[in-house]
Amino acid sequence: MKSVAIKRQEVRLPRYLVSELAVKFSVELNGILYAIRDISESGFSVESRGVAPITSRRSCRIFVEETTLVYEGEVERVPRDSELDAYMFVSKPLSRNLIENLEKAAFIKQSVEASMENVELPQAFKNFLIDLRHYLFHVKQRCDELDQKLRVEPFDIKESSNVAIEAVFFPWFFDKMIAFSQTLHGFDRKFTKEQKASAITLFRESVQEFYLTSDFVSRIIARPRGYVGDYEMMNEIYDNNSVGSSTFARLMYKYGINEMSSQSVRYRRGLFCKRMLAMAGKGPMAIASIACGPAREVADFLAAIDPKASGDFSFYLIDQDQEALLSAKRRLVDIKLNRQLNCEFHFLPLSVKDIISGSNSAGALGQIGFNFIYSAGLYDYLTQPAAKLLTGILAEWLQPHGSMIVGNYNTQNSTHAISEYSAGWPLILRDEPEMVDLVPAGRRHELHWDDNKINIYLEIRK
Ligand SMILES: C[S@@+](CC[C@H](N)C(=O)[O-])C[C@H]1O[C@@H](n2cnc3c(N)ncnc32)[C@H](O)[C@@H]1O
Repeated sequence: MKSVAIKRQEVRLPRYLVSELAVKFSVELNGILYAIRDISESGFSVESRGVAPITSRRSCRIFVEETTLVYEGEVERVPRDSELDAYMFVSKPLSRNLIENLEKAAFIKQSVEASMENVELPQAFKNFLIDLRHYLFHVKQRCDELDQKLRVEPFDIKESSNVAIEAVFFPWFFDKMIAFSQTLHGFDRKFTKEQKASAITLFRESVQEFYLTSDFVSRIIARPRGYVGDYEMMNEIYDNNSVGSSTFARLMYKYGINEMSSQSVRYRRGLFCKRMLAMAGKGPMAIASIACGPAREVADFLAAIDPKASGDFSFYLIDQDQEALLSAKRRLVDIKLNRQLNCEFHFLPLSVKDIISGSNSAGALGQIGFNFIYSAGLYDYLTQPAAKLLTGILAEWLQPHGSMIVGNYNTQNSTHAISEYSAGWPLILRDEPEMVDLVPAGRRHELHWDDNKINIYLEIRK
C-alpha cells in the first residue's frame, strides 16, 4: 500500500491537501455537504461550483468520512480569484493536532486493511492462529494471576509453587504446545513461498509476543554471538532448566528447550558419548568434533571413562567461535583434573572455510589419521556443495577402519516450522537421498535416525 504522507503547503500555516490524505473532510454550509479540498487550522477551501454557498459570516460543521462531526463554528468567505471557494474560521481555529491525529488514525485503518488483503491464506490457518492465541492468552493470564498472589509470599512458598507448576501443569501445557507446533508444521508443508511469507507475518503479529517471553527465544532472535545455535543456546538445551522472571516465561522457556528438536540435541549427546566409550581399551584413538560448541558429550565421556583407559584418547575440538572453545576447555580441563585423566585435548579455532581451503593449519589435520570424526549442528547451515566438499575432506582424514558421523535435521523435523515462525531460526533440512549424496564415491555408508526421527545421521567408514 502507498504510504500517505501528510503534504503541507507552507504558506503561513500548514495546509493539508485532502487528496493527499488518508482521511476525508467535508463541510456543511447552508445545509449542503461539500467535499473539502484543502484544510488548515485557519480555514479550508472547496471546489468552486460557480456559485458560492455563502457570502457572509455563517456557521459551518466539518465532518470526517461524512459522518463524524469534528468542528462546529463560524466561517467567512475569503475573496479570491481562483477556482476555489476559500473560507476562514472566525469563531475558533480547527486544532492542527486534531487534523494530524485524524490522519494518523485513518492511515492505521488503511494499513491494517491492506495487510489483511495481502494475506492469501487458508481460513483454517487463521482459525489455528486464533486458537493458539486464545490458548496462550488464557494460560498467561492464569500464570500472571498466580504470580501476583505469590508476590508477597516467602521464598520457599514461591519455590514449591514452581515445583508444583512444573510437575502438574507443564506436562499438559507441553502436550498442547507440541500439538500446535505440529499443526503449524502441517500447514507450513503445504504453503507456497508467498503464502509462507504472509503466514510468518501473521503468526508474528498474532502470537510472537507470547514466545518472546522465553529467554531462549529472545536469545535466538538477538543472536549475541552473531549466529543462531551458539554454545550457550546449546548449553540451555543440555541443562534443561526452568528459566524466566514469571511463571509463564518459565513455561515457555521449558517448552522451547523440550521441543522435538531440542530432545534430539540431547539424544545426540548420548549417542556420541556411548560411541566414544565403546572405543575404550582398543588402543590409541584420535577423535575430532567439527563445530564442537560446548562439547558436552565429551564432558560426559570424561565423567564416565575409566581413568586407566583415558590416556589412549586425543580429542581435536574444532569450532569457529573462540568463546565456544574456551567454554568447552574450562569444563573439560576441570573434569580431567578432578578425575586425574590422561587424555589429550587440542582446541582449534577453525572454520569450515579453513577446513575446505586447508588454511590456518587445517591442512595439517589430514596427517593425523582419525579413528572417529563427528559433527552435529553444523550441516544444517551448509549448502549441499559446501557439505559435500567438507564430507569429502573429513572422509580423507580418517585412518583405515575409522568412521565418521554427521547429523542433519531431516525434512520430517516438525519443530522446524515453529522455530522459523516464532524465532527466525533457519535450517537446511535434508532427506535421505540428500544425505546419501554427501558420501564420497566408493565409501561404505549407513543412515541412522534418532528416536523421533528428527535428525538423520550419516555414517561413513573407511
Ligand atoms: C548448534 S551448535 C552445535 C554444537 C555441538 N556440535 C553440539 O551438538 O552441541 C553449532 C556450533 O557450530 C559452530 N559453527 C557454526 N558455523 C561454523 C563454521 N562455519 N565453522 C566452524 N564452526 C561453525 C558454532 O560456533 C557453534 O558452536
